[in-house]
Amino acid sequence: MIDERQGGLRQEIFANDRRHVWHALAPHQDGQPWVVESAQGVRVTDMDGNEYLDAMSGLWCVNAGYGQERLARAAYDQMVRMPYYPLSASHIPAAQLAGRLNEWLGGEYRLFFGNGGSEANETAFKIARQYHVQSGQPLRHKVISRYRAYHGATAAALAATGQNQRKYAYEPLPQGFLHIQPPDLYRGRGDLDEQAYAGQCADELERVILWEGVETVSAFIMEPIITGGGVLMPPAGYLDRVAAVCRRHGVLLIVDEVICGFGRTGKRFGFQHNDVLPDIVTMAKGITSGYAPLSATAVRAELYGAFTDAADPQAHFRHVNTFGGHPVSCAVALENLDLFEEQELVSRAAEYGELLQRELQSLYEYDIVGDVRGRGLLAGVEFVADRADKRPLSADAVRAVIGRCKARGLIVGRNGDTVADLNNVLAIAPPLVIGERDIRWIAQVLHDSIGEHVQEAARG
Ligand SMILES: Cc1ncc(COP(=O)(O)O)c(C=O)c1O
Repeated sequence: MIDERQGGLRQEIFANDRRHVWHALAPHQDGQPWVVESAQGVRVTDMDGNEYLDAMSGLWCVNAGYGQERLARAAYDQMVRMPYYPLSASHIPAAQLAGRLNEWLGGEYRLFFGNGGSEANETAFKIARQYHVQSGQPLRHKVISRYRAYHGATAAALAATGQNQRKYAYEPLPQGFLHIQPPDLYRGRGDLDEQAYAGQCADELERVILWEGVETVSAFIMEPIITGGGVLMPPAGYLDRVAAVCRRHGVLLIVDEVICGFGRTGKRFGFQHNDVLPDIVTMAKGITSGYAPLSATAVRAELYGAFTDAADPQAHFRHVNTFGGHPVSCAVALENLDLFEEQELVSRAAEYGELLQRELQSLYEYDIVGDVRGRGLLAGVEFVADRADKRPLSADAVRAVIGRCKARGLIVGRNGDTVADLNNVLAIAPPLVIGERDIRWIAQVLHDSIGEHVQEAARG
């Protein structure tokens, strides 16, 4: 915490921030910036010394929790040994990490490293496109994704994103990106049981592929659970069914594990809840638990074969980034995976995730809580103005509940600026090192904050 002697420094930081920092997503504000200064375990502390339980793991990424000194040491050691060399050659941390990620993925994959999730998805689209061209199917260029899903901020990743409020200011975006309905057990299934609903969703994917022309469709991209778009739970069997459709029509299945990967849902990767091996897996965030920027696009080894034709000098993947697979980030990722395995963070997420989901059930006491859902240490609370017709609660009201949580020392998230009128889901994704007491406390604070909001709303 900054003391009195440092008061001038504090004012300088606030002034610089207000004047010069362009913040992600947050609307322009004249108010005092919220400056986080230090962090330990599941808690962060701001410059005024206020402590908060960070139930969002930063931006869904600090899976191993804050203050893991061994990750800092891994970065330091690598910087001293060899701070940088590009992956057009190779280096030890990238080679080792590619091997370890193959173990985690449970298949034979070739890894292309990048810096963040958007880039991992951009890379996946380019690989899919070139793969088809070099496999004698040059018309296959279209990418299908789901409304409400987020796949990144860069041009093609944003085009694949199904959130109109994130997109319209930048349109037209690259062509050839199509969207289908998101699977959503709360709003989408009607009277169907889960299997029938999964079949209906897969049928829609297949219909779009056929209508577009099979020979023009390159890939289908999906998160195992739509996370930032509102923690939308798919019906059981969804991934198996859509994977079968993709296989039937030669469409590559890209699974975006940027949030669901690295233990978040109680498995190493979210797709591992099903019996499916995706063609391409994209990952970022939790790969280093947020301690250093890194992403990877994992491509099934058979697909890589299309890029290695010795007789064709143009067959290779003509793509490079300066910092992708940075040795320091790869060293941190390797240490992060060691930590995950030693502390059994994935099975811990499954076990403590069950407690979290159970504890949150008490929120149904309030009529404005329409649905409580999630898997592992990923949860969503969908607010409604009317439980019967599921009319969404306003984004302002959801923001107010979140503000009450923060006033009590709890940071939770929300699906802001996604799809008009559906920015009504509160999100919870704490570090996987969270313990029982803190999980119960999160549920209690949510309970109290929602209760307070309901009371005040009734008073008018
Ligand atoms: C599912 C998903 N994919 C891709 C991205 C983009 O990742 P990044 O912000 O690292 O570019 C995100 C970011 O939140 C994400 O949630």
